[in-house]
Amino acid sequence: MPSLESRVSALGPWFHNLRLGADATIQTAPDHPLGDFPANFWQFFKHCVPDDLSGQSVLDIGCNGGFYSFELKRRGAARVLGVDHDPVYLNQARFAREQLQLDVEFMQGDVYDIDRVVGGQRFDTVLFLGVLYHLRHPLYALEKVASLVGQRLVFQSMERGSWDVAEFAADYPFSERDVFFDERFPRMYYVEHAYAGDGTNWWIPNPACSQALLRSVGLRIVDHPCHEVYVCEPRAATS
Ligand SMILES: C[S@@+](CC[C@H](N)C(=O)[O-])C[C@H]1O[C@@H](n2cnc3c(N)ncnc32)[C@H](O)[C@@H]1O
Repeated sequence: MPSLESRVSALGPWFHNLRLGADATIQTAPDHPLGDFPANFWQFFKHCVPDDLSGQSVLDIGCNGGFYSFELKRRGAARVLGVDHDPVYLNQARFAREQLQLDVEFMQGDVYDIDRVVGGQRFDTVLFLGVLYHLRHPLYALEKVASLVGQRLVFQSMERGSWDVAEFAADYPFSERDVFFDERFPRMYYVEHAYAGDGTNWWIPNPACSQALLRSVGLRIVDHPCHEVYVCEPRAATS
């Protein structure tokens, strides 16, 4: 039987640094350029999800190696479903599940088709982290994601441009041009070729745009614990 290290290595490269093995000392991505990722990032927003998820359902869209799925299963969620379109990452997630002995479901599926993949069912908590900017059709996907949110969506997107967010009018005359030079106006930067060496980075919103997109798919932003992360509720449930 090959060692755990060699099995981890054969499944790589990993994007999620998971800790496996009896004493949790085998790391799947110890040399990740972002450090101990995503554990280091999760520290900034883990308090936004209840510590006790007993009886609740979780959908993790773009689950990758399953880091967040495993974290929420450890909080007692009754059902955790991770979906990703990449079979390489799903193999990693399934391997980690076996090692961690956590009862998480992993399914191959595309966010554009996510309503059909999950049978139209809503989930108490939906995670949509690190996926939006990888999509050529982000608003179409976000509408589908929003339709599945029972209690809360935890959303993250890479953001670029101005950090400042301002109030803008609901409408402007056709002659108004200056507002489009205001870098606080919602903007999405289109990446024709690649960004950070990644040709799947297509659309990068500024913070104002992330927030406007979330509102426009029927969500209310209830928390913004750190740059790029938003916690949202369905607007109908809160207004
Ligand atoms: C940057 S990683 C983010 C992983 C994880 N959610 C996180 O925040 O650490 C993007 C993930 O989204 C997945 N993904 C990209 N496009 C997708 C799509 N159209 N449908 C489903 N998953 C997708 C990728 O395979 C990858 O696992």
